[in-house]
Amino acid sequence: MTINVSDADGRHRSPFRAFARRALALGGAGLVSVTGVVALSGSAQAAGTTLGAAAAGSGRYFGTAVAANHLGESGYATTLDTEFNAVTPENEMKWDAVEGTRNTFNFSNADSIVSHAQSKNMKVRGHTLVWHSQLPGWVSGLAATDLRTAMNNHITQVMTHYKGKIYAWDVVNEAFQDGSSGARRSSPFQDKLGDGFIEEAFKTARSVDPAAKLCYNDYNTDGVNAKSTAVYTMVKDFKARGVPIDCVGFQSHFNSNSPVPSDYQANLQRFADLGVDVQITELDIEGSGTAQATNYGNVVKACLAVTRCTGITVWGIPDKYSWRASGTPLLFDDNYGKKAAYTAVLTALGGTSGGGTTDPGTGGGGTDPGTGTKTCTATYTATQTWQGGFNGQVTVKAGSAAITAWSVKVTLGAGQTTTGVWNGTTAWDSTGKVMTVTPSYNGSLAAGASTSFGFTVQANGNTAAPTVSVCTAS
Ligand code: XIL
Repeated sequence: MTINVSDADGRHRSPFRAFARRALALGGAGLVSVTGVVALSGSAQAAGTTLGAAAAGSGRYFGTAVAANHLGESGYATTLDTEFNAVTPENEMKWDAVEGTRNTFNFSNADSIVSHAQSKNMKVRGHTLVWHSQLPGWVSGLAATDLRTAMNNHITQVMTHYKGKIYAWDVVNEAFQDGSSGARRSSPFQDKLGDGFIEEAFKTARSVDPAAKLCYNDYNTDGVNAKSTAVYTMVKDFKARGVPIDCVGFQSHFNSNSPVPSDYQANLQRFADLGVDVQITELDIEGSGTAQATNYGNVVKACLAVTRCTGITVWGIPDKYSWRASGTPLLFDDNYGKKAAYTAVLTALGGTSGGGTTDPGTGGGGTDPGTGTKTCTATYTATQTWQGGFNGQVTVKAGSAAITAWSVKVTLGAGQTTTGVWNGTTAWDSTGKVMTVTPSYNGSLAAGASTSFGFTVQANGNTAAPTVSVCTAS
């Protein structure tokens, strides 16, 4: 083992001794076991070079719809695990998938997605509880009283099964009509229970899993129009009357007939101003090349410009598995190659491609070979693990220009806390989960030179690597 860990006082010590000191600082001699020390040096992951890591740089998630039957395909699983930090089951949680027969629940396909996501420390969006589509015939056939019972039972059973595992639920999906009427869409729920079915569903949902965010989700509501204004009016009324609602999802399925609206950001903002989070929940944009890339970049920029836009989910990974495959609307081609749209999204999120070479001046072949542009990269390595925790190390490397300061964001996983940080100074955000680390003495780096900082994490059952996101240099 050749890695040296240096302390804030600048002395170097062997990782075993540093580990033992850190572990003792956890206060439990029982945790210290030399035989329990494992050095993980091969798990370095360049920071800010994936969609999820780049989004985490601003406290957001970047997710994708996932189909359980593709999880066994290695390109699919690798791309999912590398690029995304949130998932939405594409069909597996819909009513017909989980309760095709009344009161007989089948969660196996949805469970496989949720357990995969949990093992990778990804958020899960639950989709969807009450929707007119992919609804079994037995539900449509019920009379009002029975339908109400069935709706509340469905919400209760599904949310109970996933209680504590879901970041946000699409409680009600697509309850409004397209066009200028602003009316509710005809459906078994609307037609038999009236407008009140929506708030009843939200109230039931809140009582079952109070920790999950409860969203209303729809399409053609992405810009300011009659349909989105009808949803806006409903959400405003819910907030005024204390009906539980935490978020609004904007599906954002775009093509030439339904382009990205010019007032997309303004529309997200007006909903956020009602006191709810907004999320882009099913993003796909038909097209190719630069035009598609520009549209994708604009959608991401709109979300980032709205403080309460908490995350973006694209509706699939490679084009071949899209529900609109002929429109090639996704970020990866059929061989999991990154499309121009991918690069536009990563760039808009503040990330950088190229796995460690982030200096925009290199490789460009222009007259300025990169001098003057101050950049850095941050690379995470788990250096020691033990029962209950681990030490992480982040190597900060200057690009092709010398720098005098750097700043790196580290986002802890659910349940994790740190008990010490060395060779860096920390500032924590209000959630207590995101630390911005700046140099303690080691800010000045020559071009191409590196330094590192380290920290001890108490895992509290979650041994996933913290997310290290974009390095900024000055
Ligand atoms: C789509 C799925 O992608 C398809 O596989 C399925 O056949 C139909 O549903 N709005 C929604 C999503 O809320 O659930 C839909 O997903 C796309 C439109």
